[in-house]
Amino acid sequence: MAEFSPGLEGVVAAETAVSEVDGANGRLIYRGGYLIEDLVPVVSYEEAAYLLWHGELPNEGALDALREQMAGARQLSKPARGALLAMDPVTDPMDILRTVVSAQGASKSLTKPTLEEAVALTAVFPTIVGATLRRRQGKEIVEPRHDLGHAANLLWMMNGEEPAPDNVHWLDTYLVLLADHGLNASTFAARVVASTGSDLASCVVGAIAALKGPAHGGATLAARNMLDKIGSAGNAEKWLTEAHARHERFSGFGHRVYRTYDPRAKILREMARTAAPELHKTAARTEEVALQILHEAHPDRPNATNVDFWASVVLTGAGIPKELFTTIFATSRVSGWTAHVLESLSDLRLIRPASRWIGPQPGKKPLQLTKR
Ligand SMILES: CC(C)(COP(=O)(O)OP(=O)(O)OC[C@H]1O[C@@H](n2cnc3c(N)ncnc32)[C@H](O)[C@@H]1OP(=O)(O)O)[C@@H](O)C(=O)NCCC(=O)NCCS
Repeated sequence: MAEFSPGLEGVVAAETAVSEVDGANGRLIYRGGYLIEDLVPVVSYEEAAYLLWHGELPNEGALDALREQMAGARQLSKPARGALLAMDPVTDPMDILRTVVSAQGASKSLTKPTLEEAVALTAVFPTIVGATLRRRQGKEIVEPRHDLGHAANLLWMMNGEEPAPDNVHWLDTYLVLLADHGLNASTFAARVVASTGSDLASCVVGAIAALKGPAHGGATLAARNMLDKIGSAGNAEKWLTEAHARHERFSGFGHRVYRTYDPRAKILREMARTAAPELHKTAARTEEVALQILHEAHPDRPNATNVDFWASVVLTGAGIPKELFTTIFATSRVSGWTAHVLESLSDLRLIRPASRWIGPQPGKKPLQLTKR
């Protein structure tokens, strides 16, 4: 019997060339062997998505074609629009996203995932997120714009006004940074669904469900909520000391794989200085104190800040309301999920791990039926 590994820690469950998290050295490598810090200054989200799907960066013609394809796929299908409008506007945005993506992917029979579908699903996420916000605010839904890039169009559909170039830049950078991250929980969920021969939308719905939790994508919102409770740099020490005494986890700290500083957090930390200067001050002091407390409590653990902590500050600076944070994460990661699903098709094997039986052996307990 193979050894039990709680949380599958250390278990190699797939081979992939989509991205690699080199936790020991604090490196994130995207498809083709590019370090995330080298890619971020030079690519847009569309280029990063193309790279994850194709394994190479697009030339000008291929990028134009992808932009055109995505712009043409921004409308919701009739069932998806119906599902969106049927939901109470105050429903958790991740529940709306999960439901509408499911309706968008509804078909008459099971279909094999294709690249075209991956592009179309990725293109429609901003439409769902934008409409979710507008409905929450009791405002008219804004129609997508054909002439805007992915990040700019998302801001346009949220606000119905020309997006500020800085906000587009900060959001686009976030989208590039979060697009893929090895075999994280939601990507694994997508690959598990794919391994059964299911369709692409089902894989993505499974991934959205996994991303929602506060130990994964929900951590960005949890980090921002924590910063809101702390309120100011001066209050950080008191708040964190008390929270630690209550055995609460600090949101945005710790990681299963990184054993040193998360390179994405480093980039966002720097960006946060200009994106949200006030919140940056509170966050910087919070980071300093939180790491001090964690190092004292767990001297043998790396205890580093993770991407969610600084993402919560940069997204705030880009004008994203915190209730949307997890859906924006999904809007980025959908290119990675679909790239993984498409990659897995070339060598599809049902993912079916074993479990260790900890119940009683048969025959030890008399079988007694209660009378009904
Ligand atoms: C991400 C996370 C789930 C990884 O956890 P992990 O490596 O499996 O670590 P464990 O859950 O086994 O925790 C190990 C110890 O470190 C502590 N620890 C880990 N992360 C902590 C945090 N953010 N705040 C306080 N303590 C933390 C645990 O309490 C535990 O202490 P104990 O042994 O005294 O009980 C965890 O760090 C966490 O919950 N972080 C907060 C949520 C978050 O930011 N998630 C986003 C991840 S990208």
